[in-house]
Amino acid sequence: KDTPVAAPKRVLLAAPRGYCAGVDRAVIAVEKALEHFGSPVYVRKQIVHNIHVVSTLERQGAIFVDDVAEVPTGSHIVFSAHGVSPAVVSAAAERGLEAIDATCPLVTKVHREAVRFSRDNFDILLIGHAGHEEVEGTMGHAPDRTTLVNGPADVAALEVRDPDNLVWLSQTTLSVDETMETVRLLRERFPNLHNPPSDDICYATQNRQVAIKKVAEEADLVIVVGSANSSNTVRLVDVALEHGAKAAYRVDYASEIQQEWLEGMATIGVTSGASVPEVLVQEVLDDLADAGYADVQRVVTAEEDLMFSLPKELRKDVNGEA
Ligand code: F3S
Repeated sequence: KDTPVAAPKRVLLAAPRGYCAGVDRAVIAVEKALEHFGSPVYVRKQIVHNIHVVSTLERQGAIFVDDVAEVPTGSHIVFSAHGVSPAVVSAAAERGLEAIDATCPLVTKVHREAVRFSRDNFDILLIGHAGHEEVEGTMGHAPDRTTLVNGPADVAALEVRDPDNLVWLSQTTLSVDETMETVRLLRERFPNLHNPPSDDICYATQNRQVAIKKVAEEADLVIVVGSANSSNTVRLVDVALEHGAKAAYRVDYASEIQQEWLEGMATIGVTSGASVPEVLVQEVLDDLADAGYADVQRVVTAEEDLMFSLPKELRKDVNGEA
């Protein structure tokens, strides 16, 4: 059979990819809340940053709001996986809402670090993206002591109160390499900068970046499935480009893949962000197979088996009804 390119067409499918333990838990939390309390269940912000997940839950009876003030008194409200500041928790309680906290436990861990360091008189340099919900939630745990550092370019102009009492923390879904570069520059300016007790960039973010690096070394084109507001998804595009892919694109759905992206590309890498259901990846693989890329090889760089138990508010109610 004639093929227009010399090398055989193939797909390298990154593993791990897709759902992390925190996303899985948050999505199940909304489903269980709907099951046990009936519709509607309100959710503050997108439960996870994926358009398909949000619209599927909307069809099941979830109502997404930006602010607890929009929620009728007495209703159930789920806080998203990205976490909330204490001010949001109090506002919900004052309104008489029944809160179900689906904050990822690995985000809660960073919140605890922020509280502890600020109590111990440290100022916090939080590496993260301005406006991201996780950053707002974390900053809200130590509002007077936290300064946001968007990336390496921010370091030179930073002003701090006491360079000897500084610690850095980070958003969980950043590029590992870029964050380490930011920390290197911070340490150049503030040699006594303290490190967090453990990595803030979560296992899922790190594992997906390691896998796509390996894929990108051999891939001509990389397709990352995920939504535009998903931080870890967008990082996967960056990492693929930095590690050898000639081109890398993000798509929410397979239908967004453009024929011209594939022209002259023999090896296509595929991965997905931590909030992306596998069905969306399968649709991409199906479309690629139709375009001649039926040979799919998995590139496995780690196995994941982490699972989190459901938010406590649901464990209690679910057990009560069982
Ligand atoms: Fe949690 Fe990391 Fe997922 S912080 S929600 S496990 S991307």
